[in-house]
Amino acid sequence: MTLIELLESTEFLKSKGFDNPEIGIVLGTGLGKLANEIENEITAHYNHIPYFPLATVEFHSGKLIFGELAGKKVVVMQGRFHLYEGYDFVDITYPIRVMHKLGIKKLLISNAAGAINLNYKKGDMMLIDDHINLQGGSPLAFKNVAEFGERFVDMSEPYNTHMKNKLLEIAKNNNITLHKGVYASVVGPQLETRAEYRYLKIVGADAVGMSTVPEVIVANHLKLPVVAVSVLTDECDPDNLQQVDVQEIIEVAGKAEPKMITLFKELIEML
Ligand code: HPA
Repeated sequence: MTLIELLESTEFLKSKGFDNPEIGIVLGTGLGKLANEIENEITAHYNHIPYFPLATVEFHSGKLIFGELAGKKVVVMQGRFHLYEGYDFVDITYPIRVMHKLGIKKLLISNAAGAINLNYKKGDMMLIDDHINLQGGSPLAFKNVAEFGERFVDMSEPYNTHMKNKLLEIAKNNNITLHKGVYASVVGPQLETRAEYRYLKIVGADAVGMSTVPEVIVANHLKLPVVAVSVLTDECDPDNLQQVDVQEIIEVAGKAEPKMITLFKELIEML
């Protein structure tokens, strides 16, 4: 990644009409419908944006959408890049840097995750309060990082407190259960063993998933306030482990989608 590449990606999108979005949104697995709520939308497929990671076949639907949501100009990632698809840390976080160059001032992230905390149930949502990076690398570990910001990024408040409090308030007003907890990120794509679920509980995770943490690290690198919400799609009980069905994960995420849309839309209104 070079600054010039980043500028070329951004200029391409500006020329398509991606004009000064205020807020960036990343839509996770099974959570693409928020995009239907966008007005005056302009779409750019990832494959058409210069220097974007080249999408895999499985991932052909990935696109960046610009438009208006709750009265604000937004840019939405419908589909994200994952390490388990073979991309590296710099690739998967490149879109975050592009959205930042386009001008976003806030970043909202969603994902599907497994519940490690067994007080949290399938279909519930969890506000990510903090995280544990178990992906074995960093999106800031590259040679010319200094051109993009400082190397030793503070992570004492990785998720923005103001936006977290607003989301808790919105959840309460709408009778949405929104737990608060620690998200651990793993590479995947295999799910965890029983021993790994026990380990995740011991180290302090409430949920586990295969995304988000690299994006949040880069947001902190860019001093971009970020919040993230997980839909808990399966219960990871090592003493009663059920086989995970990816189709079911997508289904459970889809059922929780209206709640995610409410949380994000009302937050955007308030920002
Ligand atoms: N583990 C990892 N990632 C996940 C899970 C899980 O149990 N559920 C949804 N994403």
